[in-house]
Amino acid sequence: MKVMVLNGPNLGRLDLRSSAIYGNLDFAALTAFIENSAKEMGFEADVRQSDSETELITWLHEAADAKIPVIFNPAAFTHYSYAIRDAVDMLTAPAIEVHLSNPLSREEFRHTSVISGVVKGTIGGFGPDSYRLALMALKGLI
Ligand code: DQA
Repeated sequence: MKVMVLNGPNLGRLDLRSSAIYGNLDFAALTAFIENSAKEMGFEADVRQSDSETELITWLHEAADAKIPVIFNPAAFTHYSYAIRDAVDMLTAPAIEVHLSNPLSREEFRHTSVISGVVKGTIGGFGPDSYRLALMALKGLI
């Protein structure tokens, strides 16, 4: 079973962001962690990252057309991108929102997710394990 694991802006430079908030993994290590966790659970993870709203929307359309489930860390787009929300709403297989940090324990602008209302559920605050927990949840949904 395939799963698309999409990641939004600035996550490709994870190792250059605050380690107090995001830990010490770089994006390549996070990708390997997700791929290995997925394999253990019988999934084949297609992990992608983009800083471009357009590219993320194109990938969401691709997942919708292929009926592939999506685990999605929309990064800062979480908080304001109605275009991404609309694309997530058009998905045809389960979608789960994930965050490395817990946005609700951070600045007020991070307390709003325009994505949460159109996904099965949201997991945040567990670092890379947020993705692993999302894979476990997805297994239960499929
Ligand atoms: C994030 C949280 C967002 O608020 C932030 O803009 C990110 C990463 C997370 O994974 O914790 O870029 O989605």
